[in-house]
Amino acid sequence: MARKPLIAGNWKMNKSRSDLQEYFVSYFAALGENLQKVLDNIDVMFAPPAIFLSDCKQLTSEKNIKLGIQNLFFEKSGAFTGEHSIGMAKDFDVSFPIVGHSERRQFFGESDEIIGKKVSACLEHGLKPILCVGETLEERKEQKTHLVIEKQIKLALSGLGNCEGLVVAYEPVWAIGTGLSATSKEAQDVHGFIREMMSGLFGGKVAEKVRILYGGSVSPINARELLEQHDIDGALVGGASLRPLDFAQITMSAYEVVS
Ligand code: PGA
Repeated sequence: MARKPLIAGNWKMNKSRSDLQEYFVSYFAALGENLQKVLDNIDVMFAPPAIFLSDCKQLTSEKNIKLGIQNLFFEKSGAFTGEHSIGMAKDFDVSFPIVGHSERRQFFGESDEIIGKKVSACLEHGLKPILCVGETLEERKEQKTHLVIEKQIKLALSGLGNCEGLVVAYEPVWAIGTGLSATSKEAQDVHGFIREMMSGLFGGKVAEKVRILYGGSVSPINARELLEQHDIDGALVGGASLRPLDFAQITMSAYEVVS
């Protein structure tokens, strides 16, 4: 893997404040004596509910752990009830905002246009947005996967001159939370396609640097094989990231692949 892997945990709307300390104690203990080496070679990110960012920052300080936020808004400030700004995220040392997750698209009506605005605003302010794309089961059955991904990426990145810092996550909607991951071959096929697209949009050199994560039922059982694929540079993990031992095993798989 030419690119530094990123293993990202998306906790979604889960956990309570009182779970946090035990979680991180277990996660770090599970990595054991490898902890330092692993965190030197792999980027590990947690995206808790935003209200827990301060606690998570404290509980992971002194370790080289990155923080994410599950959503943010592109405006600087103002009357946008319920939203968080880029500045607020930066106040808590967030480096990886998740943008355009399929649950945001599906339940909160986020359009490719809004997602594009979020991506540009993040990049402009030095954050590394994780742009999520992926097809539904119906679209896959109709063999529209590449078409859908192409449209989502083009709309989200149109007008962007420079994509330095951008991370793309391929998350087939049918694989999210279902226990039914894409096979490594299916995932590699789409990741290769995304890299080709990035090359067309930003040039080959830039495309080689962009990290493309796979997300959708990543588990300790399938992580290694997925991460061994040439164009899979990490994982965006939902369910399994809620269990510290599972997430530690996934982190270790990424470490084993690069070492
Ligand atoms: P999952 O979620 O690992 O539970 O499938 C992945 C995601 O939604 O990012």
